[in-house]
Amino acid sequence: MIRPAAIGVASADADPGFGVYVHWPFCLAKCPYCDFNSHVRGAAIDEARYLSAFKAEIAHRGTLAPRRIVRSVFFGGGTPSLMAPETVQGVIDAIASAWRLDKDAEITLEANPTSVEAERFRGYRSAGVNRLSIGVQALNDADLKALGRRHTVAEALGAVKLAAALFPRFSFDLIYGRPGQGAAAWRRELAEALGYVGDHVSLYQLTIEPDTMFERLRDAGKLKLPDEELSLALFQTTREVTYARGLPAYEVSNHARPGGESRHNLIYWRYGEYAGIGPGAHGRLVTAKGRLAQETERHPEMWLTLVESEGNGVIESTPLSREEQGDEFLLMGLRLSEGVDPRAFEKVSGRPIDPDRLESLIEDGFLERDERGRIRVTAMGAPLLDTVVADVAA
Ligand SMILES: C[S@@+](CC[C@H](N)C(=O)[O-])C[C@H]1O[C@@H](n2cnc3c(N)ncnc32)[C@H](O)[C@@H]1O
Ligand code: SF4
Repeated sequence: MIRPAAIGVASADADPGFGVYVHWPFCLAKCPYCDFNSHVRGAAIDEARYLSAFKAEIAHRGTLAPRRIVRSVFFGGGTPSLMAPETVQGVIDAIASAWRLDKDAEITLEANPTSVEAERFRGYRSAGVNRLSIGVQALNDADLKALGRRHTVAEALGAVKLAAALFPRFSFDLIYGRPGQGAAAWRRELAEALGYVGDHVSLYQLTIEPDTMFERLRDAGKLKLPDEELSLALFQTTREVTYARGLPAYEVSNHARPGGESRHNLIYWRYGEYAGIGPGAHGRLVTAKGRLAQETERHPEMWLTLVESEGNGVIESTPLSREEQGDEFLLMGLRLSEGVDPRAFEKVSGRPIDPDRLESLIEDGFLERDERGRIRVTAMGAPLLDTVVADVAA
């Protein structure tokens, strides 16, 4: 039996803390499956100009949500490993002057594993990054090509080895359920991959996102994707193999050894507070106006112009109703293997979880209640998470 993982970082009841997300919106090429806010530019990026704009945004959020202790910083993208280490350093320094940066803060940077980018790893470490998250995606050159990746398996493994030598912690991402991939091939690839893992690995099932090249290929019948039965088998294989190797899922797609969980992502999933800096970044800040859902301008150059004229790139800053907060709390918390505390839900939303609805989901085997009264999604409910959440929240 696969038991749900207990999260080693800190108790689920502890304050989830405050984190800062920084978005770098540029990539060398657009991958055909990706719908992240990422853009390709023919010319060099004026990093000094972006750094000034990042600093302005950080100062703005610091005024809006002062006196926080920053427990984590996450440079996401796009491809943050295209940033000069000096730019990364400048952003970290600005965060440390707007708030108190905890001495044990987790500072993660997402990196693509081409050899050019790996050359900058040492610089990121000196800038204060202490955790690298590498986009390996596949351990097979033909599949890397089909995913539009610009690195080989050898480069990816070289980058993982370098990250292991330079950083106290690192993680890497794989995508499974790729065109033409069967369960046996995934089992072998995953078993090999787990041999390279430090304390954390993210395993994402390929999603066909709207308006991507993969969507167009699928619609033209040119992409051989797993059917529902194979998708489920791939998910279950992932759970089995990782559990047997001491890397259980602590979230739908994230696996860690106890204590190796991503503290930054735990802030999101435990419904903590975070500032979103950079183009298209989201934030949740608790101010006198309530819990604000914030969003910045997505388009990089428009964001830059907006920050330069207004001092920040925020285009949306809306106080969430308690009902909306309750929905978000469940949507985030039920992704975690530790689940949610119904009393915490009631505190956030001002209403209890509907007891009849809850009992019927438990009876049907989609949810379970642990000995402390926490509610979590079962192995049977996990592949249907969105439906289960919608049902609890309704
Ligand atoms: C912000 S993205 C990419 C970071 C970095 N630019 C890279 O490509 O390695 C974070 C991760 O999301 C995953 N991902 C992106 N699009 C996906 C999709 N359509 N289906 C499944 N996983 C996806 C990839 O594993 C990727 O590493
Ligand atoms: S997957 Fe990563 S490298 Fe590819 S386009 Fe998206 S953000 Fe850029």
